[in-house]
Amino acid sequence: MNILEIIAKKRDKKELTKEEIHYFIDGYTNGQVEDYQAAALIMAIYLNGMNDREITDLTLEMANSGEVLDLSKITNSQEIIVDKHSTGGVGDKVSIILCPLIASMGIKVAKMSGRGLGFTGGTVDKLESIPGYKTNIEMETFIENVKNIGVSMISQTLNLAPADKKIYALRNSISCVESIPLIASSIMSKKIASGADKIVLDVTVGSGAFMKTIEDARKLARQMIRIGKLTNRETVCVLTNMDEPLGYSVGNNLEVIEAIEFLKGNMPEDLKQVVLELANNIMKLYGKNTDDDVNKKNILENIKNGKAYRKFVEMVKIQGGDISVIEDISKFHKSSVIKEVIATKSGYVQSINAEEIGRMACSLGAGRVKKTDDIDNTVGLIIKTKVGEQIKEGDILAEIHANDLGKAEEIEKQLLQTIVINKNPKKEIKTILEIMV
Ligand code: URA
Repeated sequence: MNILEIIAKKRDKKELTKEEIHYFIDGYTNGQVEDYQAAALIMAIYLNGMNDREITDLTLEMANSGEVLDLSKITNSQEIIVDKHSTGGVGDKVSIILCPLIASMGIKVAKMSGRGLGFTGGTVDKLESIPGYKTNIEMETFIENVKNIGVSMISQTLNLAPADKKIYALRNSISCVESIPLIASSIMSKKIASGADKIVLDVTVGSGAFMKTIEDARKLARQMIRIGKLTNRETVCVLTNMDEPLGYSVGNNLEVIEAIEFLKGNMPEDLKQVVLELANNIMKLYGKNTDDDVNKKNILENIKNGKAYRKFVEMVKIQGGDISVIEDISKFHKSSVIKEVIATKSGYVQSINAEEIGRMACSLGAGRVKKTDDIDNTVGLIIKTKVGEQIKEGDILAEIHANDLGKAEEIEKQLLQTIVINKNPKKEIKTILEIMV
C-alpha cells in the first residue's frame, strides 16, 4: 500500500478501505505522509465525499491517533462527562459562556476547543486574547484544574486526536472546510479522544455556518449522531440559526468582552437562546433535571446571582490569565481605528450575511490565511443591529475596529452592502431550529 494509490483511489471516486484510512492517518500523524500529499487526499475527499463506513473509520482512526483521555481520573466515580462542540459560526462565543456556566451548576467541564477555521472564529484564539491565559497546558494541569474548580478550557495541545489537529489546520489553508465527512470526523474524533460519555452539538445553519441549508445541517447532524451511537456516546444535536452573526461582536477581544458582559447579565437575545438550549440539553444528558423550563430557570439564576461570572473569573485565573482585565474590560487592548458605519437610508434590516461579516473580520486580521499567520486580537466588527429591526437614516449600523484606516474605509463600503435595508417589514430570525437525537 502507498499514499499515491490511496490518493488516486479517492480522486477516482472509489471507496477507501479501513486499512487505507489507517495508513493515511498514521502516516500523516507521524510525518511519513507529506503535507502536499495529505492536501491532495483531503481535497479528493472534499470533492468526492465518503460513505458512512468510511466516515466512521476516519473518525475512529483520528480519535485513536493519540491518547484517549480517561476522565474517570477527574470524577473519581461513575459521574457522566458531557461535552459540547459547535460546527462553527460567526460571532460564536458560546463555549466561553457555556463552559463556566455549566461548571457553576456543578457539572464538570473539560473542554478542548479549536482555532479559527475558514471565515469562522475559534474559541482558542478568543481565549488567548485574554492576556496571560494559557490554552497550552500539560495533561496533569488540565485534569487538576477540572478537579479543583470544575472547568478547564484548552487548545488541542495535548496528544489528543493529533491527526485532527494537523488536518484541521491543513483544511483551513487549502479551502477544504465545508465538507460533511471532514467536519463530522473532526468534531467526533476530538470528542471521543477527550473522553466524553455524552455529547451536545451545536449544528449551525445559514450564511455564517459551513452548512448553508437545513437539509445539509440535518445530514451532518445525522452523521455525528450515528458515530455517537456506534461508539456508545449518546449525542444530541441542536440546530441553530447562523444566518446573521450571533450576538453583536465579531473578532477576538470584542467577543470575549461580549461573553463577559453576557455572564454579567447583558444577554443579546439570540445568544441567550443558544446558550440556554445547549445548557438545558447538557443538563438533561447529565440527568440533572428533565424539565426544560426548570433547567432554563436554574441556568438563568446562575447568571443573575453571579455564580457563572465568578466561575469564569476562577477559570481565567487558574489558566494564568490576568483577571484585572476581566474585571475592568476597558483594559483590553484596542485597535487604533474605530470607525462608525452610518445608515444611509431608513427601512427594515432584511439580511446581514454572516459569512461576509466573518470574511471582513478575517481581512482586518482576526483570522488566518496561512497556518502560521499571527492574528490581531484587537480588530473586528460590532454590528449594532439585527435582522427585522427598523432603522432610520443616520443610525449607527456598526463599528469597525481596525489598525489601518484604509482597510476600515474599505470595510465600511462592504458593510453598507452587506447590511441590506429596504422598506418591507421583515420578521426576526428564529434562533433554535430543531433538536435531533
Ligand atoms: N469544528 C471542528 O472542530 N471541526 C470542524 O471541521 C468544524 C468545526
